[in-house]
Amino acid sequence: RRFSRITGTGSYVPPRRLSNADLVAELAGKGVETSDEWIVERTGIRARHFAADGVYSSDLGLEAAKNALQAAGRIPQDVDLIIVATSTPDMVFPSTACILQNKLGANGCAAFDVQAVCSGFVYALTVADAMIQTGAAKCALVIGTEIFSRILDFSDRTTCVLFGDGAGAVVLEASDTPGILASDLHADGKHVGILCVPGHVAAGAILGDPFLKMDGQAVFKLAVGVLEDAARATLAKAGKTEADIDWLIPHQANIRIMQSTAKRLKMSMDKVVVTVDQHGNTSAASIPLALDWAVRSGKVKPGETLMLEGVGGGFTWGAVLLNL
Ligand code: ACO
Repeated sequence: RRFSRITGTGSYVPPRRLSNADLVAELAGKGVETSDEWIVERTGIRARHFAADGVYSSDLGLEAAKNALQAAGRIPQDVDLIIVATSTPDMVFPSTACILQNKLGANGCAAFDVQAVCSGFVYALTVADAMIQTGAAKCALVIGTEIFSRILDFSDRTTCVLFGDGAGAVVLEASDTPGILASDLHADGKHVGILCVPGHVAAGAILGDPFLKMDGQAVFKLAVGVLEDAARATLAKAGKTEADIDWLIPHQANIRIMQSTAKRLKMSMDKVVVTVDQHGNTSAASIPLALDWAVRSGKVKPGETLMLEGVGGGFTWGAVLLNL
C-alpha cells in the first residue's frame, strides 16, 4: 500500500506586526473602543501580522512553500501537485495555486484551490493524501495562506481584533510507511450565515457586504462540539485513542475553544500547540503556521503522532491524524 508523509514544513508572516496595544491605538483613532485586556481575556490573542498593500495571498504562500521545500530537500521541479487552501484568493479566478505555481517556477504540475475557510488546510491535506495514495501525485505542496485583514470591517470591534495574515505549507510525499493515518471531513451548509463574507462580484461591482460577518457565540458553541466529534471519529478510523496523540494542533481561532476541546478530549494543554497569541486567527493558514512553529522550535519531533483539527465557515470541520 502507498502512503503519504510530511517531509518538510514552512511558514511565513508579513513583517508588519501589531500588538494589541498597537491595534487598540489604531482603532481608537477611528472611534472604535477596545482594550488589550478584553482581547487577551476573551481570545488569548496578543499580536497579529498584517500584509502591506500590493501583497497577495500567493506572495505569503510562496514564501511558506519555499521554506517547506527547503526543509524537505526538494526543488520546485520535484512538485507535481499544488493545493492552496484560502478564502482570500488573489483574484476571483484563476486560482491562487496557479498564480503561486508560476511565482515558484513549478509550471506544469496540477494546481488548484480548496475553499473551506478555517478548515481549508485539513481539507487540502486530505485531498493531497488521497491523490498520493491513488498514485495521482508523488510530491505535493499543501499550503494555507490568507490575508484576512482585507475582509475585516475595522469599525466592527467584535471581529476586527480576532484575525491576522500569514501562510503555512507542507511538502507531502509518497511513502512506504504511513505518515497520514486517518482523516475525517464534514460540512453543514445550514450554518452559512453565522460566519461569512456575503458580497460577490457582479455587474462590474461588489454586490452585498464585502466584510466578514460573524455570530461569535454561535460559532463558539458549534466549534467545540464538532472538534471533539472529528477528533474521536479520526482516532476510531485509525484504531487509536486519545492517549496515542502526542500533540494536538487545532485551528488557532481562540484559546478558549482550544481549552474546551482539550478538556473534552481529556488532554492537558501542555499537549496543545498554541500560536494564536502571536498570529491571531489566520484561518486556513493557522494550522500549518502552528505546525511549522512547533517543528522549528523543536517542540514537535519526527515520529510523533499529531492530531490536526480545523473548523470554520460553511460550517466546515475536520481532522487529520498523522505520524510526523
Ligand atoms: N473590545 C471590547 N469589547 C468588546 C469587543 C472588543 N473587541 N468585542 C465585543 N465586545 C463587547 C460586546 O459589545 C459585549 O458588550 P455588552 O455586554 O455591553 O453588549 C461584550 O464585549 C461581550 O460580547 P460577547 O460577544 O458576548 O463576547 P464573548 O465572550 O462571546 O466573546 C468572541 C466574543 C471572542 C468572538 C467569542 O464569542 C468567540 O470566541 N467566539 C468564537 C468565534 C471565533 O473564534 N471565531 C473565529 C473565526 S471562526 C473560526 O475560525 C472557527
